[in-house]
Amino acid sequence: MQILGIESSCDDCAAAVLKDGKQVLSHVIHSQFHIHRAYGGVVPELASRDHLEKIIPVLEAAMSQARLEWHQLDGIAVTCGPGLVGSLLVGLSAAKTLSFALNIPFYGVNHLEGHLLAIFLEDRAPSFPFLGMIISGGHTSLYRVAGFSDYRRLGQTRDDAAGEAFDKVAKLLGLGYPGGVTIDRLGRLGNPGAFHFPRAMASDKTLDFSFSGLKTAVRTFVARHGEAYVREHLADLVSSFQEAVVDSLLHKLSDAVSLTRIPRVVFSGGVAANSRLRARVQELADRDSLEVFFPSAFLCTDNAVMIAAAGNRYLEKGKSSPLTLNVDPNLQL
Ligand code: KG4
Ligand code: ZN
Repeated sequence: MQILGIESSCDDCAAAVLKDGKQVLSHVIHSQFHIHRAYGGVVPELASRDHLEKIIPVLEAAMSQARLEWHQLDGIAVTCGPGLVGSLLVGLSAAKTLSFALNIPFYGVNHLEGHLLAIFLEDRAPSFPFLGMIISGGHTSLYRVAGFSDYRRLGQTRDDAAGEAFDKVAKLLGLGYPGGVTIDRLGRLGNPGAFHFPRAMASDKTLDFSFSGLKTAVRTFVARHGEAYVREHLADLVSSFQEAVVDSLLHKLSDAVSLTRIPRVVFSGGVAANSRLRARVQELADRDSLEVFFPSAFLCTDNAVMIAAAGNRYLEKGKSSPLTLNVDPNLQL
């Protein structure tokens, strides 16, 4: 089975070809980072317009990198939600057109399922059940994964996603976009205990998260202390902010491990690249005998390989989506 994967749910226009569910024949991403940088966040209207321009070149690049002709494809997997409606429409329309023209099936994949299953593209994969933590610019959710297609959401953010908090705080501090990598790098030079920021929902009984209060706390800190003080203590400030994010994530993860008695965690999403998070997760793993899985960086962030892999599981069973399929910006998993 040679499956073409298409991902256009947010600001990455990506295509990939996957053979037999595991072998990556090609993997292409056109990032829109340079377009949204000036705004400090993704501008939906600009994202969809750029997808429209780039989708065909990206698809052609994926096919030529895989050294395949169109007629050698067996199926297409495409993200149909959740995400930005205009961005999703571009990928889904391309998938439907190819499916019709090539007379091959296509399957509409839930982007979050793609993230949860990305780890199975690695040599070291978890056994079931496992806890799946998706932490990106658009999502912060915790799942119990009992098997393929067997997911139960245990908690999610009630407001901002963890990556969104990194990006908004970076914007506030003039550190550029996206902010996660910069804060990660700068935070290593600071003291994570220098300042105290709130750990929202810590005493809450649910496994939900909240990060908008933390962002406001940083804004209040900046307003109270003034620009000169902030500049002088920038590394301590971002390190302390980052520690609050990591504490909040790990607190709920620990609760989930105790509640479910599942000693196995799989991470996904851009924030999973955070070095402080990884160090703290390792400490937790050593302390509580947790098995921890991080996909490679290119599989953590948005990509079409994970979409091809998730779609492949349905297509190989003969399942496909109808040409009337619509996108769903709020698709749940
Ligand atoms: O998964 P992703 O590439 O795209 C989606 O949001 O779907 O994640 C991007 C997010 C951004 O918010 C970015 O700031 C954050 O991941 N990020 C990081 C790091 N690298 C990327 N956050 C913290 N530390 C990092 N090293
Ligand atoms: Zn994503």
